[in-house]
Amino acid sequence: MSVTFEISPNPSPRTDAEVAELVKDPGFGRYFTDHMAQIAWTKGQGWHSAKIVPYGPIALDPSAAVLHYGQEIFEGMKAYRHEDDSVWLFRPERNARRFQTSAARLMLPELPTDLFVDAARELVSIDARYVPPAAGEHSLYLRPFMIASEAFLGVRAAEEVTFYVIASPVGPYFAQGVTGVDIWVTDRWARAGIGGTGAAKCGGNYAASLIAQYEGYEHGCNQVMFIEASEKDRVEELGGMNVFLVGANGELVTPALTGTILDGITRDSILTVGESLGLKPEQRRLSASEVFSGIADGTFVEAFCCGTAAVISPISGFVTDKGEYRPQGQGFATTLQIRNAVLDVQYGRTPDEYGWLQRVV
Ligand code: PLP
Ligand code: COI
Repeated sequence: MSVTFEISPNPSPRTDAEVAELVKDPGFGRYFTDHMAQIAWTKGQGWHSAKIVPYGPIALDPSAAVLHYGQEIFEGMKAYRHEDDSVWLFRPERNARRFQTSAARLMLPELPTDLFVDAARELVSIDARYVPPAAGEHSLYLRPFMIASEAFLGVRAAEEVTFYVIASPVGPYFAQGVTGVDIWVTDRWARAGIGGTGAAKCGGNYAASLIAQYEGYEHGCNQVMFIEASEKDRVEELGGMNVFLVGANGELVTPALTGTILDGITRDSILTVGESLGLKPEQRRLSASEVFSGIADGTFVEAFCCGTAAVISPISGFVTDKGEYRPQGQGFATTLQIRNAVLDVQYGRTPDEYGWLQRVV
């Protein structure tokens, strides 16, 4: 499907000087670009009215279904500027496919892959000056999302839906940078359960994770690691990231995709890159007790979390109400090796032998 986006330029965009200033220290998700992409869907008519419009508030009827029943999904992906000033997307078709899976779970309509990717490309093209310079490892974070915009009360799938893409220049997700984060481990609060929405990227999962996240903050931690609700010992993922453990013999262990966690694109890329670095990827059941005892006896020497926002961030320790478990590997060496290998592809510092990049500008 090839669709033409009708473009309504923002009448009062930021000046080049303002954009140059804010991309120097963008933080995360604080500033948004001048435009957003928008596509409407109506039952019977399908997808229509693709537009690029000025970034700004969305008018929704107070009875819009999303506001009451949370029928919403989203994605996270990034555009990277290379040294030669070109701008690239990283594996956007994977995000499009995951968006389709999330849509199916939430009874939202499936957005075709080329429409999803085209919307992202259109927005990045028109707001390309917001893609930060290559030096500094900043990027333009894209947030595609779909909401049930139909006005009605009653629990059923909406017959009017709107898809948007907004964009925000970003630096590191963790303010402290790549120095190691502490992770609070909870089995009190569950993020998802078998048959639930854990494998979908929907807002409700994140709302459900907040209480645990704030419990983590109270214990000095940046993120929470969730344990599967019924088994109470199976490691799942973090509130907004997947998790890996590095073994003393080069094992690269991450929980298998069981239907309760997100199929992370960074996770998948690490499994591929890890193999070519000579590591031994293992997707399998991982229990919290194995993590804790493995760290204590040196079986696991490093741990890290990964995601589009978090990139690849070393974990300095897992904190529980019974004690702390801190991997003893020196200087996060393997984590940083994997991190550099993935970033080298994303920033075009190494040939893209996997075919993961797609040029936009
Ligand atoms: N798990 C959760 C719950 C997330 O929110 C994210 C971020 O999108 C991830 C994992 C990592 O996914 P990806 O690497 O595709 O960004
Ligand atoms: C992402 O990594 O894109 C996410 O959606 C996670 C969130 C913590 C920002």
